[in-house]
Amino acid sequence: MINLIDKLATEQCLLYDEMHYLIENRNEETAQYLFEKARQVRILHYGHDVYMRGLIEFTNYCRNDCYYCGIRKSNCNAERYRLTKDQILHCCDVGYKLGFRTFVLQGGEDGHYRDEVLADIVSSIKEEYPDCAVTLSLGERSYESYKMLFEAGADRYLLRHETANEEHYSKLHPPVMSLKNRKQCLYNLKEIGYQVGCGFMVGSPFQTVDCLVEDLMFIKELRPHMVGIGPYIPHKDTPFADKPSGTLELTLFLLGIIRLMLPGVLLPATTALGTIHPKGRELGILAGANVVMPNLSPTDVRKKYLLYDNKICTGDEAAECRKCLERRIESIGYKLVVSRGDCKYM
Ligand code: 5AD
Ligand code: FES
Repeated sequence: MINLIDKLATEQCLLYDEMHYLIENRNEETAQYLFEKARQVRILHYGHDVYMRGLIEFTNYCRNDCYYCGIRKSNCNAERYRLTKDQILHCCDVGYKLGFRTFVLQGGEDGHYRDEVLADIVSSIKEEYPDCAVTLSLGERSYESYKMLFEAGADRYLLRHETANEEHYSKLHPPVMSLKNRKQCLYNLKEIGYQVGCGFMVGSPFQTVDCLVEDLMFIKELRPHMVGIGPYIPHKDTPFADKPSGTLELTLFLLGIIRLMLPGVLLPATTALGTIHPKGRELGILAGANVVMPNLSPTDVRKKYLLYDNKICTGDEAAECRKCLERRIESIGYKLVVSRGDCKYM
């Protein structure tokens, strides 16, 4: 076990069976060893800095019907909303004053925001805040659409692959969606020049250790700048309402592995991780994560952007979250920094 972690830490790839063995037979002792190595690598590249991203959830309309997601099309209980360009710019204004230098525009796959509308929003943000990065997280779009938004000034794009196993993918999504298309989108984004983030949910229904190994192999092959992973958490109005959450323990272990696999990668300690455990995000950072993504959405819409139940911070102002996170991060000896927080060494 320890020798497999050492092998990973010296930037060697693990074989499929080795990775499988490491995950399957992990225990408290190996986890602590892994986290120690992951922290060393993270400190070597990023010191004790933690980057922050201001998340603006600007629409919860979605044409997709992913079985796990609370804003899926079929959920008639979701109260739908869209933010206007002015509202989005106001979020950026609040965020900028709080020290945010990356804005993440995240939303469902909402046909209302055509390319021209989005390009205008992106270029307005870049004009107003030229020292900031704009990250988009809008799901699957055409090559041309991604290109137009990149030319409008978008810097980064987050599109979780969700699972790299075909069969598993088809258990999480309706038949109109395909893993092939999802992967193609990620390669298109990379080719266009975006800093790209992929990722998956830990403990999603029907996930096996083999699925996880395939996820890690796919990540290795794609070489993304960012990897977003967080536990699956059920939402009461979805077909998976009665499926159990992913665990803190496995999520932390995978964060550690990903840090060693891609030493310079941007790795968020996600809100979902903070939702399943009160110290989830702090523990994520101690396992190798180096990014946090607090919410900048207006408080009146926060409770409507619920991908899963019991989401944290839905009642807090952006300024409160900023302060709260600063305290939490300082309590473990790290520092929240005012910076675009670009990926190093890629
Ligand atoms: N639990 C945890 N994460 C979820 N996501 C969607 N639904 C859930 C859920 N129930 C994640 C997906 C998506 C990202 C925006 O949120 O991985 O890509
Ligand atoms: Fe939002 Fe703590 S980060 S209240």
